[in-house]
Amino acid sequence: MDKNGDFRFLKACRGEPVDRTPVWFMRQAGRYMKPYRDLKAKYSFLEMCKTPELATEVTLQPLGVMDVDAAIIFADILLPLEPMGTGLEFSAGDGPVIPRPVRSRKDVEQLRLVNSEEQLGFLGDSIRMVRSELAGRAPLIGFSGAPFTLSSYMVEGGKSRDFATTKLMMYEAPETWNLLMDKVCTVLIDYLKMQVMAGAQALQIFDSWVGCLGPGDYEEYILPHTRRVIDGLKGLGVPVINFSTGTSSMLGLIHQAGGDVLGFDWRVHLDEAWKQVGFNQPVQGNLDPIVLMAPLPVVKRRVHDVLRRAAGRPGHIFNLGHGILQHTPVDHVKAVVDMVHEYTHG
Ligand code: CP3
Repeated sequence: MDKNGDFRFLKACRGEPVDRTPVWFMRQAGRYMKPYRDLKAKYSFLEMCKTPELATEVTLQPLGVMDVDAAIIFADILLPLEPMGTGLEFSAGDGPVIPRPVRSRKDVEQLRLVNSEEQLGFLGDSIRMVRSELAGRAPLIGFSGAPFTLSSYMVEGGKSRDFATTKLMMYEAPETWNLLMDKVCTVLIDYLKMQVMAGAQALQIFDSWVGCLGPGDYEEYILPHTRRVIDGLKGLGVPVINFSTGTSSMLGLIHQAGGDVLGFDWRVHLDEAWKQVGFNQPVQGNLDPIVLMAPLPVVKRRVHDVLRRAAGRPGHIFNLGHGILQHTPVDHVKAVVDMVHEYTHG
């Protein structure tokens, strides 16, 4: 919170000037922290997501040791897949596995729409619990996957290198693809609204893998759907962060899809990306997560480079270009929070 009692993170989302640049990290709760690994030894990842007391504890772990300007609720973009009917498992080492992937028109038709309040109520409970524990100390971010990234998991059945099955559904059966996207968008809007009703004060939409597409495909097969989700959240009174990676060649299109804030990865200089979307558009980013593992003098040089490029313009939220990786030293993450706050203070 700044001296005037408003959160600098929310002010930056609105493009307003702040006393120092707000900073938080994607995946700030997770395996790089020992208290998380200790809990993980006792409970599975899905158990942790579905038990509000555990999800609350993990959400607050980073806030207990560093001065980040926002909390992000501990959950996963893939949680809506279970009630949609594809199944969802996390196997050690392989990441997420979707046992009944969506490949045909019939598979898409059989997908169920979701009543998030009823079927994913544990997430609403976690959000309410975190808000009450935070007691105004920091704002809370809710999130979901973007339509493409979520659908790609449903079609591929797990992680993918080339997203060939997903792309071929677009090319071979565009009507099936559009029906899938329609259903996913309906679910995402409901899921995100439920999070705001429960107390989320901002939303981030993760389009982690959309950079596998060229700009033409993004424009034709993705943009209308992502825009529908973002438009569907207008009127909720919370800022929406549209985050993607690998999209430096199509920032104009990402901008057209919308978002109060655009999140960039590190494959583009912050000032160049920002100029392309207009300096009146709030932005978030964009340190390479691997830099967090580098020697501290290198970390410092690169943090200062991002801040120099942001040049103190209003509407910058410091973050990584993607999530914190497992073997990141906690001390380096803490040091970056302090570097950002010191460099940008008054
Ligand atoms: O940012 C936070 O602190 C909130 C928590 C959060 C998680 N997942 C917890 C998690 C968030 C915001 C996510 C988003 C998410 N989940 C994304 C988008 C962001 C990104 O990184 O691109 C994606 C693609 C997923 C899907 C997902 N969930 C994958 C690919 C994996 C496996 C990752 C791996 O390295 O094994 C997960 C599991 C997951 N989600 C973990 C955590 C802390 C690891 C679970 C464990 O302890 O094993």
